[in-house]
Amino acid sequence: MIDTNTTGHGKWSSRFTYILAATGSAVGLGNIWKFPYITGENGGGAFVLVYLACVLVIGIPIMMAETMLGRRSQRNPIEAMELLTKEASADSHWHYLGWMGVIAGLLILSYYSVIAGWASAYVLKAFTGSFIDADATAIKSLFDSFVGSPIQLIFWHTLFMLATMVIVVRGINNGLEKAVQYLMPALFVLMFLLVAYAMTTDSYFKGLHFLFSPDFSKLTGNSVLTAMGHAFFTLSLGMGAIMVYGSYLSKDISISKTVYLIAGADTVVALLAGIAIFPIVFENNLHPSSGPGLIFETLPIAFGAMTGGWLMGVLFFIMLAVAALTSSISLIEPAVAWLVENRGFTREKACLWSGGATWFLGLGTVFSFNVWSDFKLFDRTLFQLLDYLTANLMLPIGGFCIAVFAGWIMNAKHSEEELAMQTPAGFQVWKLLVSYVAPAAVFLVFLHVIGVL
Ligand code: PFF
Repeated sequence: MIDTNTTGHGKWSSRFTYILAATGSAVGLGNIWKFPYITGENGGGAFVLVYLACVLVIGIPIMMAETMLGRRSQRNPIEAMELLTKEASADSHWHYLGWMGVIAGLLILSYYSVIAGWASAYVLKAFTGSFIDADATAIKSLFDSFVGSPIQLIFWHTLFMLATMVIVVRGINNGLEKAVQYLMPALFVLMFLLVAYAMTTDSYFKGLHFLFSPDFSKLTGNSVLTAMGHAFFTLSLGMGAIMVYGSYLSKDISISKTVYLIAGADTVVALLAGIAIFPIVFENNLHPSSGPGLIFETLPIAFGAMTGGWLMGVLFFIMLAVAALTSSISLIEPAVAWLVENRGFTREKACLWSGGATWFLGLGTVFSFNVWSDFKLFDRTLFQLLDYLTANLMLPIGGFCIAVFAGWIMNAKHSEEELAMQTPAGFQVWKLLVSYVAPAAVFLVFLHVIGVL
């Protein structure tokens, strides 16, 4: 049994705060910003179906595995993998998995913070009435001139990184818990109100049809990879974020039940975002495939047109920025926890270093929307490249390794004891999914993309 008394590692104050924080990590820009635009780019229904299937058979079992590895070790991901490898007397190379996670987290945060900066800037735009009675063309040019300005993007990116660092410095009990307690429930309410507005448009059913009626001819190998990568991204899997949160979880809490709740809430928010956005897209003759600007070019039209839209707009973008904040703290936490616990940094110094480096890297994303928009590597801008590298490659590879470790390397007695499922059959199903189905699915999708299948 791993000794947890000497680690100096924090603990969530209750199951509820853990659920809130892990849901806070899962629910973020991935659900409200990314899910709608990649669904739009990949043709709608069939993509959504593949994404949902991936959440169910790959995401949920791997989320249980990742939480379990964190809780058993009670350490940051790098030390966790070192410790668990020793416990299983396995090859020490497994600890590189922890490293890859820390790096993936910082790479994701570098662009995540830039987009979260957009959401923050839109709070101000909503507040000053920029959307009132504006039509689709006005809203689009507002967005275009905003992302065309490196100075504005840098300002908001900096502000958002600072906010992340301030919360992370305060540690899990003081910072993270308080931030998520009220804001997550409020976000749910607001998403329902937006869906209610979408219902009043004539294009409501057209939007639903786009989202839920699959046309498999629109699926390519790359869209399947994107759907699978997004299942990892949206559930914060494959890089140690959930592992680090699991490591603060006390032993008496059921992992499986909390995972169902978190994955369920995450999926509901994404679907609500889609249901709210696509009717507005069609109502205003916009293109579903217009890319990362999609929500910024659609939702403000609704806010500008509806009664009470001013307040809704302000609240919505506040919620979006906060949802992003509760995710960004989990992106940086693995690096910070490692620097503190393993390299003897103070929390302040750890935040400063990892936050500073990430901020600097984020400039690449800032410029890829304006001055470097023509600079392409492998046919992608820097932002697209970072997104592809992390969400489509690093997270699925990390998830694959976590599944293999939990299914094949870790002693089954230990995982059964740690998961403490209600029925032995439940454990068997999990074991089957994590040992065979999830790794095989990831592997097949990769083979398909590189053209072997
Ligand atoms: N799950 C977050 C979202 O959907 O916005 C993004 C994210 C957070 C990805 C933490 C990965 C992660 F480790």
